[in-house]
Amino acid sequence: MSNAPKFVIDGLKATIEDKEILKGIHLEMNGGEVHAIMGPNGTGKSTLASALMGHPKYEVTAGTATLDGEDLLEMDVDERARAGLFLAMQYPSEIPGVTNADFLRSAINARRGEGNEISLIKFIRQMEGKMKELEMNPEFAHRYLNEGFSGGEKKRNEILQMMLLDPKIVILDEIDSGLDIDALKIVAAGVNAMRSPERGFLIITHYQRLLNYIKPDFVHVMMQGRIVKSGGPELAEKLEAEGYDWVKEELGIVDETVGQD
Ligand SMILES: Nc1ncnc2c1ncn2[C@@H]1O[C@H](COP(=O)(O)OP(=O)(O)OP(=O)(O)O)[C@@H](O)[C@H]1O
Ligand SMILES: [Mg+2]
Repeated sequence: MSNAPKFVIDGLKATIEDKEILKGIHLEMNGGEVHAIMGPNGTGKSTLASALMGHPKYEVTAGTATLDGEDLLEMDVDERARAGLFLAMQYPSEIPGVTNADFLRSAINARRGEGNEISLIKFIRQMEGKMKELEMNPEFAHRYLNEGFSGGEKKRNEILQMMLLDPKIVILDEIDSGLDIDALKIVAAGVNAMRSPERGFLIITHYQRLLNYIKPDFVHVMMQGRIVKSGGPELAEKLEAEGYDWVKEELGIVDETVGQD
């Protein structure tokens, strides 16, 4: 029997302050797969990530999202994490007063569940090992979470969290934004090292460049709060070369943003 997770989003609609942003998302992901979501600004990509993770600002009004048949939308944020969902946010929050190491250890323990907490020694060994892989200065363990971190340092720290939490479904929202060329390679290597039949990745990005390092199996284009086109890696290459106008023309879309309706 395989432990490959199955993640299914069906007809997902979500609103923020009564404005509908997601207008029916369908997506199916299996363990071992990497899906990329691309799309112009303001088309609902981050909203999809936040709604899946259970951000309280977003109200899901229709549809389902299940992980191995379990209804994620019924769960609190921490239950979703425990079920194996992980989101690296486009704009990670700063939490002054909580050190990175303390945060990581609580997050790991929340994921592992009561009675199964990681020992301090084992935690430190794991954290230090992964920080080394990501070429992070050890001092980042003791800094307050994301406070004063540069853009690239925040992104690297998100990948550190992902590595330590060992999630089943990983959503990375613009993990490449703000990374210098070397950091991009380090982060991509970190992601590639985590690729396994027991894990699926949903990678939101604007650039083919990231996908040169993390080869996707499927590429989806989001416009107007929906996935309007899907294909293989060649779709990302075509978008990089030609932009989005041809997609809009093909589908008769005039304004690709979510819009006011
Ligand atoms: N709190 C909010 N209040 C009002 N509108 C919002 C709020 N959050 C998101 N929106 C709107 O929802 C739309 C989709 O936003 P979202 O962040 O999902 O876009 P995106 O596809 O991730 O864009 P980008 O590529 O620029 O990151 C935007 O028009 C945005 O202004
Ligand atoms: Mg976004």
